[in-house]
Amino acid sequence: MLKIDSLTKFYGKKKIFNNISFFVQPGEIVGLIGENGAGKSTLLSILATLQSPSKGSFSLNELKFPINKKEIRKQIGFVPQEIALWEDFTVEENMLFFEKLSWVKKDKDQLRQLCLNMKLDKWQEPTKVLSGGMKRKLNLAISLIHDPKLLLLDEPTVGIDLKSKIEIGNHLKALANSGIMIVYTSHDMDEINSLCDRIVCIGEDNFYQQLLANSGKEILSF
Ligand SMILES: Nc1ncnc2c1ncn2[C@@H]1O[C@H](COP(=O)(O)OP(=O)(O)OP(=O)(O)O)[C@@H](O)[C@H]1O
Ligand SMILES: [Mg+2]
Repeated sequence: MLKIDSLTKFYGKKKIFNNISFFVQPGEIVGLIGENGAGKSTLLSILATLQSPSKGSFSLNELKFPINKKEIRKQIGFVPQEIALWEDFTVEENMLFFEKLSWVKKDKDQLRQLCLNMKLDKWQEPTKVLSGGMKRKLNLAISLIHDPKLLLLDEPTVGIDLKSKIEIGNHLKALANSGIMIVYTSHDMDEINSLCDRIVCIGEDNFYQQLLANSGKEILSF
């Protein structure tokens, strides 16, 4: 279980968010929404242990940040908002490269299957010739190489066509059904509504709360 306890973040004197607390249970997909600049990416990068909160803490499967930072990292798959790939490598070479960096062993067939699960079949193509949506699928496949317990996805479906969005959504639901926890940001409310069990809203404006008032979802506001 991911337990987030009173996380607060300042950049200098500017408060980005205050006292965020919620939890994610195995099998759950939690949506994180808010306007541009609300702090969604900042919160995900804190949970990915890439930066520290100003106050508060969190734990993942009883491992507490910051004491157990290294162990927490092993259980996390992170897809950042900006695509992070080796452009001159083929899809295969990117998968093999990130497999080497990870602490699990996966053979080529297993790595290829992760891409096929995302409906990405350009195994021998150089990454630089892939479309933006295909690169996002590759980033997602890379985040799954080490069998993470918690997936942190920062707008993973931006630029992805509707058919692929639905395919990725179905795959995320299947991952959740296998017991993975997912925290997921998107500006697409239809996607949030169809995928997420609970929704966390960041920001003072209550625009999103009103928008989702009739969704029947549990909404937490910070
Ligand atoms: N390294 C940094 N130093 C100072 N301020 C930062 C830094 N990173 C982000 N910010 C500020 O923190 C706020 C939150 O940014 P963040 O990227 O987390 O928002 P977001 O909710 O992900 O927005 P978007 O929907 O546009 O992706 C913004 O005002 C941003 O300018
Ligand atoms: Mg962001």
